[in-house]
Amino acid sequence: MKLISLILAAGKGTRMKSDLPKVVHKVNGVPMVKKIMNILDRLGVEKNILVLGHKKEVVLEAIGEKNTYVVQEEQLGTGHAVMMAKEELEDYDGNILVVCGDTPLLKAETLEKLYEKHLATKATTTILTSIYEDPFGYGRIVKKDGLVKAIVEQKEADFEIQAIKEVNAGVYVFNSKKLFTALSRMDNNNAQGEYYLTDVIKIQVEENEVVESFILEDNIEILGVNSKVQLSQAEEVLRIRKNIELMEEGAILIDPSSTYIEESVKIGRDTVIYPNAVICGDTVIGENNEILGNTRIIDSKIGNDIRIESSVIEESIIEDRVTIGPFAHIRPKTHLKEEVHIGNFVETKKTTLEKGVKAGHLTYLGDAEIGEYTNIGAGTITCNYDGVNKHKTVMGKNVFVGSDTKLVAPINIGDSAVIGAGSVITKNVPARALAVARGKQFIKKEWTK
Ligand code: UD1
Ligand code: CA
Repeated sequence: MKLISLILAAGKGTRMKSDLPKVVHKVNGVPMVKKIMNILDRLGVEKNILVLGHKKEVVLEAIGEKNTYVVQEEQLGTGHAVMMAKEELEDYDGNILVVCGDTPLLKAETLEKLYEKHLATKATTTILTSIYEDPFGYGRIVKKDGLVKAIVEQKEADFEIQAIKEVNAGVYVFNSKKLFTALSRMDNNNAQGEYYLTDVIKIQVEENEVVESFILEDNIEILGVNSKVQLSQAEEVLRIRKNIELMEEGAILIDPSSTYIEESVKIGRDTVIYPNAVICGDTVIGENNEILGNTRIIDSKIGNDIRIESSVIEESIIEDRVTIGPFAHIRPKTHLKEEVHIGNFVETKKTTLEKGVKAGHLTYLGDAEIGEYTNIGAGTITCNYDGVNKHKTVMGKNVFVGSDTKLVAPINIGDSAVIGAGSVITKNVPARALAVARGKQFIKKEWTK
């Protein structure tokens, strides 16, 4: 699309009452500014320029990739912000799509339609608008004979203007050259002492330029997030949109209203998500799984036919037919291969369990590699940390580890070895051996009367 976009994201966001710049606040797991960038990507704009200012390092970090940006050192208003891109756009003679970094509900199709209308009407400027029953806070669209004559900001609006319900979405298609000509005439004689981008309209109308509007029916799409209340409204809309998308692709959400699934998550057909699941980040879940009660999954890959109940899974890989929980904590770099069973109060970290391993109860497995079909008894602990360094526990296939065993790493346990319950194992155990390391039982008869 032969269009350059400009995202205004330099403002502090005073009304957010936050130490973070407004545009990095997340909606459905994505920083608002990134959300807009994703939409523009989908639209296929030729180039995207960000206007950054307040805590720009924080914003750049949140976006997390290379970007073209210009800096607005002092935030003197949206018009001033656009001016900052003048040099960057000096040689450009085409259309510019300006969007604000705080309208994360916009859809790519809407921007496309706005642009199409702009091309079809050959207007100088086309503004995205919508109708709000309670338009408080938005710039009002003043029209005559269907054409836009001015945008009046809330703080400048008299009673008559305040009654106008058509509002400015903060999204515009401008002719680049004409935009900068108008901006050079703008002043800051207004209630806020700011350079308003919206004043461009009045200036262009005075010069007999045609300003059109594209009125969006679904007004929620233009919601501008200025406060934490509006942030939660945006969050809700995006969460519902995501849940619908997942269900349309075949996932089963028992109660979408109590399920939080971030935008980046993928879920396969017939996987059932029960209430209170929180699924975040770069998580891919396969088909036919059951995710029950208060489970939280972050940045993990989950296969098929798996059952997870009331557990936390972080940065891990879970293969087919595994069962986890309730109340397990699968910490980063865990790899559970097929048919592994992890039961109550089991914690794993940086550990690989080969096919069919069982760790049913009350266990910590850290920095461990455990062979196929090994059985880890209740209360087993890999003592992986000596206070300075971490050490590995390596275990073969078909090992039987008795309950309440401590494995003091580094340690190696051979295939088919058996470890007696209550052992503190400090020396390697060869294949097929029995190891018992505990105090001998002492019996004193007739001890009590
Ligand atoms: C703006 C519009 C208003 C519209 C509303 C839609 C103006 C003057 N008003 O008001 O008509 O109805 O959006 O949501 O444009 N920003 C900068 N530099 C600045 C000031 C702001 O980059 O100096 C950025 C902010 O980071 C933000 C965006 O511009 O992403 C909009 O600023 P904001 O203060 O939220 O404008 P509104 O008062 O909402
Ligand atoms: Ca705003």
